[in-house]
Amino acid sequence: MSPMPSQSDPLRLGIAGLGTVGIGVVKIIQREAALLAARAGRDVVVTAVSARDAGKKRGADLSAYAWELDPVALAKRDDVDVFIEVMGGHEGAAKDATEAALALGKHVVTANKALLAHHGQALAELAEKNGAALRFEAAVAGGIPVIKTLTEGLAGNRIQRVMGVMNGTCNYILTRMQSAGLPYETVFEEARQLGYLEADPNLDVGGIDAGHKLSILASIAFGTRVSFDAVELEGIGNVSIDDINLADDMGYHIKLLGVAQMTGRGLEQRMTPCLVPAESPLGQLQGGTNMVVLEGDAVGQIVMRGAGAGEGPTASAVLGDVIDIARGFRLPVFGIPASQLVQPVAALSATPARYYLRAKLQDKPGALAKVATCLGEAGISIDQMRQINQPDTDDGDAIVLIVTHKAAPADIQHALAQFAATGVLVETPAAIRIEEV
Ligand code: NAP
Ligand code: HSE
Repeated sequence: MSPMPSQSDPLRLGIAGLGTVGIGVVKIIQREAALLAARAGRDVVVTAVSARDAGKKRGADLSAYAWELDPVALAKRDDVDVFIEVMGGHEGAAKDATEAALALGKHVVTANKALLAHHGQALAELAEKNGAALRFEAAVAGGIPVIKTLTEGLAGNRIQRVMGVMNGTCNYILTRMQSAGLPYETVFEEARQLGYLEADPNLDVGGIDAGHKLSILASIAFGTRVSFDAVELEGIGNVSIDDINLADDMGYHIKLLGVAQMTGRGLEQRMTPCLVPAESPLGQLQGGTNMVVLEGDAVGQIVMRGAGAGEGPTASAVLGDVIDIARGFRLPVFGIPASQLVQPVAALSATPARYYLRAKLQDKPGALAKVATCLGEAGISIDQMRQINQPDTDDGDAIVLIVTHKAAPADIQHALAQFAATGVLVETPAAIRIEEV
């Protein structure tokens, strides 16, 4: 085993993954070597890299670096002090190599939210047992330094709520549907053509990627073990252009919104489509941008906005972590020691909220009354209700838009089930939570 490098020796990086993020990191290190050394107090150098295809052209000169086909071998090299995991995937190479590095006491920087969402607790325990840093700024909201803000800048606060739009692809799809008046399927295809979608698009549009990110933030915010399985997930596939337009008329925009808060009923984690006021910072968020909103008891509300993906923003976040390690700065992986993170009790249902309901009914006497009765019997009070005439159609159907007063999600589900039994519904109704932001 080689001797531990001193604080004045160069910090030697091994980068596993030479795609968007990995190459972004290489480019900054090559371009800004002097600046990084000045900030770190020592040189920061790449010694070895790994990817699957050694022959691929990658837009950066890698000839000075040793090549390893096996990321685990890279992680174990004596000339690697910090293992940079930017391959992706929560099993296989990413997990094996990260574990190998941490087991040897090597520091790890990763952009891999899936890995942390599924194995964050075990990896944090391994890192802390071996005196290694495990850093992951790039994993949540890309270039926005939200992990540093939560673990350091807001360390004096009790965090009350964490919210955010943390998947740029979904925000691109929703805002493009609205601005161009296009249906979901058309814009989904556009996003695919533009290369915005993950290899498995369901990670994006199913809310899974954003759910991973939320579960990581919740752990830091509330001192709990990462519990991705307890995140209530709903993707954007059922958000219709009709809902987007009707919400807009009422002064709301629809976002795939993550919310985590500790309630008297336990930890609430949701990543679901929500209506937010159009004029709020979240409502104003356009295109592929991310936004994270943090609320602390002392600081109040903080809003952070920026690029959640892409070569530059993610490499920026990775380098921020690397410089901290080079400076010798250490903190527990999730802000408090892994052994002190508690297993959260998951709130069985979300905090009551106002709901937007849209139902297509047979346009005949008593239809609306039947729907209203279902709501009344479920204990739900109606705030606004209107029937929308569709002059260009004559199909004998009517669209009814209802905004409820605050209601429990379970009561809304119960009412929707009762709607179905009325026999007046023409299609499955839409129900979208209105979030107070
Ligand atoms: P990417 O462009 O697909 O690149 C992945 C790289 O990993 C490729 O170079 C690939 O090799 C290499 N790789 C994959 N499996 C490997 C294995 N078994 N052994 C060795 N190398 C392997 O991915 P990316 O967009 O850079 O994302 C990397 C990580 O960052 C993921 O966890 C992702 O979720 C996260 N992230 C990405 C972004 C973003 O904007 N792209 C933002 C935030 C977080 P080949 O090139 O030879 O195929
Ligand atoms: N697929 C992700 C997004 C990439 O669209 O935000 C960054 O994690």
